[in-house]
Amino acid sequence: MDDLMWNRGPIGGPFTLTNSNGQRRSSSEFRGKLMVIYFGYTSCPDVCPTDLMAIAQAIDALGADGGAVQPIFITIDPGRDTPEQLTRYAAAFHPRLIALTGSDDEIRSVATAFKVYYTVARDPRDGEVRVDHSGVIYLMGREGEYLGFMPPQTDPARLTEILRKQLGK
Ligand code: NI
Repeated sequence: MDDLMWNRGPIGGPFTLTNSNGQRRSSSEFRGKLMVIYFGYTSCPDVCPTDLMAIAQAIDALGADGGAVQPIFITIDPGRDTPEQLTRYAAAFHPRLIALTGSDDEIRSVATAFKVYYTVARDPRDGEVRVDHSGVIYLMGREGEYLGFMPPQTDPARLTEILRKQLGK
């Protein structure tokens, strides 16, 4: 199976959400760049950090060309991921990683457009919040169009290779 699942669309579409400083940010701002988009939540124990680390490493491995790639993290747990947490979390992975949040409805609508599955629910048995989510790495093109996705835990070197190819380098 190819690492990059091409054009199983329609996936994605324009979005406007709020960054951790409270500013509204739109996907259209990143025209001309590739966007790497990841949906997750800051207290995710393993998959999210692994994938965000891989994204950061892949972008750094591109050197100066990495500037043409915009990494974006969208929380699927906006009720618990505070702006402060999102700021700290994003900075821990990459200085250019933008963390976005929004109202429950906004997040639901962007996630639906990207065919992201998630649930955030309090377990009545122990009162703990349980989060379940799909964790694929989306790659969007210079016009914001969907290019494909990489599965969770894609190797950073493979991710670098895919990004380099898409950048035409
Ligand atoms: Ni996760």
